[in-house]
Amino acid sequence: MVTSAPANLRARQAIRDTWGGEVRVRGLRVLTLFMLGVVSDPGTAKLLIEEAKERGDLIQGRFLDTYSNLTLKTLSMLGWARRFCPQAHFLAKVDDDVLFNPSALLHFLNKSRDPYEQGDLYLGRVHLRVAPDRNPDSKHYLPSRAYPSYVFPDYCSGTAYVLSRSALLKISMAASASPLSTPLPPEDVFIGLCARAAGVLPLHCPLFSGGPVVPFSRCCYQAMVSIHQILPREMLHYWADVHSSQPCSWLSVRASLGLCKVRAMLGTAL
Ligand SMILES: *[C@@H]1O[C@H](CO)[C@@H](O)[C@H](O)[C@H]1NC(C)=O
Ligand SMILES: *[C@@H]1O[C@H](CO)[C@@H](O)[C@H](O)[C@H]1NC(C)=O
Repeated sequence: MVTSAPANLRARQAIRDTWGGEVRVRGLRVLTLFMLGVVSDPGTAKLLIEEAKERGDLIQGRFLDTYSNLTLKTLSMLGWARRFCPQAHFLAKVDDDVLFNPSALLHFLNKSRDPYEQGDLYLGRVHLRVAPDRNPDSKHYLPSRAYPSYVFPDYCSGTAYVLSRSALLKISMAASASPLSTPLPPEDVFIGLCARAAGVLPLHCPLFSGGPVVPFSRCCYQAMVSIHQILPREMLHYWADVHSSQPCSWLSVRASLGLCKVRAMLGTAL
């Protein structure tokens, strides 16, 4: 499920033309849908209706689609998946600027556990001991009346994370039971809070990008599960490049993953 902003039509199209267009990966069925809210601008609303008719892959929740309502978008997504996807073993929540890689995810899941195992999984890039933002001018401002603790429970970065069916049910149940403060914590923090309330622990996977942007390298992008901050045209270009030739060998993947990390860190230092 891709949480998308109504105006990001090009981002959605790039996803459909790349990873979101996959329907069968490693012999398993996958499906990509987009989650949005309601828009106040009639022009955009009309475009969305046309897009929905043409593509049939938009889900619209009953809330105003604004940045501060992103948590409501995730809640709608969980509720929808709980209700309409009882057959799905896993749900990935992905932002619309993320190059996601279902094949790399399934490979990782297959290696790390029995894919049909019923246990809880809350997988992504885990942020440890993050403190709430107490700066009133910040867009993530969270006053202590809304969240009194000095630190959040560890949570998966919201750019992309994966829930197993049982974790989805537990977290969604905890979310319906938890009071909605104003302002709401950021959506990924909120999911982390619900996960803790439900007794579901986040699991870290280094194949999910976070923080520094990962510079393009074919073997590295082939192995990563998610890479954030990708423009629509980059997504098309990288996807074509990654799939244009033979899979990289185990050795070149190892080497290039290390190199990607170093280059990502250098990139932020320069
Ligand atoms: C999982 O691993 C097994 C054994 O290596 C392999 O036969 C199977 O095709 C893999 N499945 C997926 C979905 O990658
Ligand atoms: C969030 O959505 C609700 C329901 O549509 C709306 O009443 C509220 O104004 C929205 N909040 C913001 C900050 O946009």
